[in-house]
Amino acid sequence: MTTRVDPLQYLAADLDALREQGLYRQLRVLDDEQKAHTRFDGRSVVNLSSNNYLGLTTHPKLRQRAIEATEQLGVGSGSVRTIAGTMAIHLELERRLAEFKQTEAVVVFQSGFTANAGTVASILSKEDVVISDELNHASIIDGSRLSRATIKVFPHKDVDAARRILRDLPAGQRKLLITDGVFSMDGDLGPLPVLCDLAEEYGAIMMVDDAHASGVFGRNGRGTVDHFGMHGRVDVQVGTLSKAVGALGGYVAGSRALIEFLYHRARPFLFSTSHPPAVAAACLAAIDVLLEEPEIINRLWKNTRFFKKGLVDLGFDTGISESPITPVIVGDGALAMTLSDRLFADGVFAQGIAFPTVARDRARVRTIVTATHTREDLQFALDVFGRAGRSLGII
Ligand SMILES: Cc1ncc(COP(=O)(O)O)c(C=O)c1O
Repeated sequence: MTTRVDPLQYLAADLDALREQGLYRQLRVLDDEQKAHTRFDGRSVVNLSSNNYLGLTTHPKLRQRAIEATEQLGVGSGSVRTIAGTMAIHLELERRLAEFKQTEAVVVFQSGFTANAGTVASILSKEDVVISDELNHASIIDGSRLSRATIKVFPHKDVDAARRILRDLPAGQRKLLITDGVFSMDGDLGPLPVLCDLAEEYGAIMMVDDAHASGVFGRNGRGTVDHFGMHGRVDVQVGTLSKAVGALGGYVAGSRALIEFLYHRARPFLFSTSHPPAVAAACLAAIDVLLEEPEIINRLWKNTRFFKKGLVDLGFDTGISESPITPVIVGDGALAMTLSDRLFADGVFAQGIAFPTVARDRARVRTIVTATHTREDLQFALDVFGRAGRSLGII
């Protein structure tokens, strides 16, 4: 019998290279609930790594509604939306989200990733052009590639460069101008007002990925379109239900025609099973919380201001963040991982992020505060950051 040579051997070699560069990561394991102070890998830590901006992962109203939905409707939907998997609760969630976002209609996807990728890939084809910020999320990049449209990337937030690309396209060219509302690694905002002007001037479809703005920016967390007063000027708004909303999912808000088109053509909608009823129920409860308990969002912003100022006062480079995402930029990838490990050993979980997620010389530890961190949690984290930063010569 011939011995079989493992055809996946090259993957092990790639992993070895990551180890040599100090970039190999073990997944941290959460031993408790996803909350501000919790246990990862058996250690009690202040958690600065989740996207659980409002603490809704453990909010009693969401928990209760999810339990009730499971008891009444079971644990799974059993089918894709277009065959037998559209439950009344899915439609109720879409109705409530459309009302919340002040758009004609909404379609919910399994995740923000599939909402972005499925939408861009289905509304464009190979004759079309995508004009995309260089730091847009991976799901936008993948959706653009799947669409087979020509992809033109402009430097981060460089609206003049975006204008030049638009100006040079032939009249009548179908084109999509797309930006993140909040950029996930730097925490800065997309220049929506200028991009909306450009989209109108050059007849482009305007699309915003508001994953990190959903529940965080705008009135009651309606997102950056609301924050900038751009209602009616953004054709395609993507939001997520997986971050501040505390459960799972993504959605597209827009015109009735857009949503009906996505019902017929967006491949994750057509070819992947819909959410369990508990997920839809938790998201419905989250909308109620956003509307009825806006003080949670105020607490998020108070904590954000306190923590950001603390990091800057310590002397860290926090980049250009305008949101609860605050990077601590150290440059070298291995140094970012060492800083993250030191913090963890001292009771603070802030994930190190290096190439290819960010540029090679922009490695960082990314922090995200939540509404549910106490002042003591944040002061403790600042003290630990200060000690680790000094011992590594970062500050
Ligand atoms: C900017 C951005 N868009 C989209 C997504 C995807 O959202 P989800 O986690 O719901 O798939 C993320 C999350 O990682 C994100 O940061």
